Amino acid sequence: MTDSLTRSADSGIDVEVITIGTDAPGPTLADDLVAGFERTPKSLPPKYFYDEHGSALFDRICDTPEYYPTRTEDAVLHECAPEVLARHPAEHIIELGSGTSRKTRRLLDACERTGLAPRYWPLDVCPEVVREAGATLRSEYPWLGVTGLAGDYLGGLDTLPAPPGRRLYVFLGGTLGNFTADESVAFLADLARCMQPGDALLLGVDRVKDPQVLEAAYDDAAGVTAAFNLNLLNVLNRELGADFPLDAFRHRARYDREQQRIEMYLDAQRAFSVQVPALERSWEFAAGESILTEISRKFTPADIEEELSRAGLSLDTAFEPDNGYFSLLLARPAAGTRD
Ligand code: SAH
Ligand code: TRP
Repeated sequence: MTDSLTRSADSGIDVEVITIGTDAPGPTLADDLVAGFERTPKSLPPKYFYDEHGSALFDRICDTPEYYPTRTEDAVLHECAPEVLARHPAEHIIELGSGTSRKTRRLLDACERTGLAPRYWPLDVCPEVVREAGATLRSEYPWLGVTGLAGDYLGGLDTLPAPPGRRLYVFLGGTLGNFTADESVAFLADLARCMQPGDALLLGVDRVKDPQVLEAAYDDAAGVTAAFNLNLLNVLNRELGADFPLDAFRHRARYDREQQRIEMYLDAQRAFSVQVPALERSWEFAAGESILTEISRKFTPADIEEELSRAGLSLDTAFEPDNGYFSLLLARPAAGTRD
């Protein structure tokens, strides 16, 4: 673990950011590119979207009129936060993939009203965003203790801090849907193993709905999502010295009804070859060939309950808006499933 004390440029407040998960380093970007490009279609893990620029673009996606998940989840959280904290008066809030932590304010507001003062532990793969979000929250909530965590939640849950006291793990944004069903159950089971019997998980998942609404959410008219998707190629060019021609790719989002998931692609508009000097390799692209850059699964209430139960978690309470667009679920470790 590496500790660093950093100063946010905006608020002038110091936030401790701990790097986690470095004890057993996982695959590098280069490893993931080689493995992903072996597949048909070629694919890449989504975590590489989130360099500093990608994180800023994602934040702008959340403000597009088409991207309903953020404002829907925010409204549900606003409504249910007092009940969540009454059911689970947390001493620690540990948020996975916290990004700018904008919706977390709903929980902190409810804490403030009920006199709870938990410590906040935001974890994200993008250290800059953790530092900035942590400092901003510290300035808005002077009572709040924050320990930022920088790392990969797919490689590092066993190195996640386990502070004594009642913990509320938080995983918002429908990000669980970015895993396949098996990955999702493995991830939730990993999380369940971190949890004590008195801990809980607050999980936000996106629901099955009209495909037109879904496809628009992942292909906004202003082109922010397209820019976000294409930024992945910038990351490859910068980090590996590759020469992906950004103007040769087009963003595409489609909803697969059978698999209940949005699929996000980068489609090559012409044939070309890509050199990756860091790997001393090149790859051929045919005209019309696609890179699968993200899946975003959509759930029915039964789907999510099944995945929770396969992972050793049991549903305590479900919260949803009237239109059923999104679900927030409070879950706990199932009794008798611990090692
Ligand atoms: N929770 C926020 C952001 C969701 S976007 C919201 O609900 O709006 C997904 C977030 O998870 C991004 O901030 C991204 O940087 C982070 N992330 C993606 N893959 C990750 C990984 N493997 N480990 C840790 N964080 C990751
Ligand atoms: N967790 C978000 C989701 O599945 C991630 C996301 C939103 C995303 N829009 C995107 C990922 C566009 C890639 C491209 O809704």
